[in-house]
Amino acid sequence: MRPDAFRPAEFPRSANYDPDWVLDNMMGPNALWLTESLAESMELSPGMRVLDLGCGRALSSIFLAKEFDVQVWATDLWVDASENYRRICGAGVEDRVFPIGAEAHALPFAEGFFDAMVSIDAYHYFGTDDLYLESHLAGLVRTGGQLGIVVPGLVEELTSAGPPEHLQRYWEPAFFSFHSPAWWKRHWENSGMVTVELADLAPDGWRHWMQSDLIWSERLNKPTDEADMLAADAGRTLGLVRLVARRNEQPPARLDELEQGMNQPAHPLGEIVRDGNGTTSLRFERLLARPPEWVWRALTDSDQLRHWMPCDIVGPREEEAEVSAPFWDDIVAKYGIEDTVLAGRIVTWRPPSTFAWEWDDELLTYHLEPTPTGTQLKLTIDLGSKGPDVHLVAAGYHICLDQLCALVDTGEAPPFIDANPSQYEALYAQLAG
Ligand SMILES: C[S@@+](CC[C@H](N)C(=O)[O-])C[C@H]1O[C@@H](n2cnc3c(N)ncnc32)[C@H](O)[C@@H]1O
Repeated sequence: MRPDAFRPAEFPRSANYDPDWVLDNMMGPNALWLTESLAESMELSPGMRVLDLGCGRALSSIFLAKEFDVQVWATDLWVDASENYRRICGAGVEDRVFPIGAEAHALPFAEGFFDAMVSIDAYHYFGTDDLYLESHLAGLVRTGGQLGIVVPGLVEELTSAGPPEHLQRYWEPAFFSFHSPAWWKRHWENSGMVTVELADLAPDGWRHWMQSDLIWSERLNKPTDEADMLAADAGRTLGLVRLVARRNEQPPARLDELEQGMNQPAHPLGEIVRDGNGTTSLRFERLLARPPEWVWRALTDSDQLRHWMPCDIVGPREEEAEVSAPFWDDIVAKYGIEDTVLAGRIVTWRPPSTFAWEWDDELLTYHLEPTPTGTQLKLTIDLGSKGPDVHLVAAGYHICLDQLCALVDTGEAPPFIDANPSQYEALYAQLAG
């Protein structure tokens, strides 16, 4: 290694750290450079409580504690907290850096506890989910506190043609979690919880990423594919995205309204999406505490459907199968349903990941993805041109999913006949506008 290669002038604070220590503990582009580049755009002052999410081997946590005299909760999934504790003690900051083993969807911290959150080369592993910031993270930072991330990203979003020609030989599926600064800004602000103050490409980020990769490959004697890719691209497509936002002082309008006496849903509201051609769809997302195979049975077995859908699915479980959807007897009696059996068809049957079926004029598509703690379920319901009553339909599916979550997570759901969608109708009426 050239003596100064690991000490570029742009990162004077990082230059004070032993390159061998950094190289032995880094897990991607030099974490100290990324942290220094982010920290210069954030307000960090002594004594602040900072969450370092996805800290890996805690290089960034140690750096922040030493450089800014903040307290850091060094939180990670893959790296054991005891291993990090040894490193933290070795760096002499055990009074200010606290190692925690946790998954990003189950963070064991009190609401509003942190003055700031940082995440270095980790947020894209879990944070591209539309509901993640709102449901799992932003609330842990006090209002007025800052959240900052650095992630590998893109100059601009890819077109439908995919990655550009010169990157195709290097491209991996995981790179589809890379996004542009504009995408990240919109993604975070959509939550209503934060206002983005900075969304840019770190100056010369791709070059620093490449440089640190080359040194690392040389050290580990491993192929230089990633550095080669970055050299071939030369910053045309790839870079390091910095995003800094501040927790909004005012809760978003929808939460305001909820606090004025409406029932707060246990699970997030779905989205009502209207395209320009007059068609409407609903989108829901749920995190469930069982693996996809388990959730698949709950979605497709008659004895499970009994607990969370108003009807059974009768017929072969295979693609293109004609099925019927008879409402359960007690549902027929309660709602005075006249057409007691609707026609249906299985459109996609790919256990345990995708199930789509039509009943009457609604197409339901379920996608299941494994997560470290169970399954992420995404449900899209295409409603065609259904108009004024869409909020009633949305409230109905919301209550079905409440039942499904209870069934999957706890093994039992309350009697479906008692489920009451009216509690959600006003909320969805507001969303429907
Ligand atoms: C590429 S490493 C970067 C680590 C460190 N920040 C650095 O820059 O050296 C990504 C880190 O994200 C963490 N991570 C990924 N998915 C996670 C999740 N669901 N919850 C918590 N941490 C996660 C991993 O444990 C891993 O240490």
